[in-house]
Amino acid sequence: MPIRNSALGSFGSYPVHFMTQQPIDDLCAALKAEFDQDSRGKAVPALLAAYQAEHQGWRDWVFFSEERYTRNLIMRCEAFELLLLGWATDQESPIHDHADQYCWMSVMEGELEETHYTLPEPVSTADTSGVATPAPAILELGRSKTFQAGGVAFIDDSIAYHLIRPMGAAPAVSMHLYANPIDTCRIFCPETGRPEDISLGYHSVRGELSGSATAETIRARFRS
Ligand SMILES: [Fe+2]
Repeated sequence: MPIRNSALGSFGSYPVHFMTQQPIDDLCAALKAEFDQDSRGKAVPALLAAYQAEHQGWRDWVFFSEERYTRNLIMRCEAFELLLLGWATDQESPIHDHADQYCWMSVMEGELEETHYTLPEPVSTADTSGVATPAPAILELGRSKTFQAGGVAFIDDSIAYHLIRPMGAAPAVSMHLYANPIDTCRIFCPETGRPEDISLGYHSVRGELSGSATAETIRARFRS
């Protein structure tokens, strides 16, 4: 059962945010302009932090689910996608990579803990016949850091993989920018480091529940 973070304004049968330019649309335009002139997005942290500090309209774009954290798409273009993630308590992500893309995470509300993991190069060991076989690679636990509302984190695969979880008794919301958009990524078994490819979907798209089969597949995967 999806739970709305706040009431969605309406005009006739159309949500208000489909009819008027919202500050979040201005943010999308500013992000697009940034990536048009700098593919590394150096101004992204400042743009995300300024939006978080000045606006509350993002609340109309977030759903929560009792089943898992939600991925709510705000904008997608060739250069990037912008999402809001809704984290009820105890809804942590799996350990995952970012498909060789950049990821910024701006905490809108609540607290989120980010834990880094690295996967060392597999070490080959020779058996009695001299045949070398790669030993299983075990994930190495890295640093954990808690980000409060207003904080912006950055990660890519050259830094680490990570696991995100909400802290405390309150739900959390984070805005994520992926450049380029990420449709598939790898999740990792915490005990063995075994990777698994998964497809990513959206719980909602521009404020409307998507009901996509892909999202259901991901929910089932994360439950196992
Ligand atoms: Fe991530």
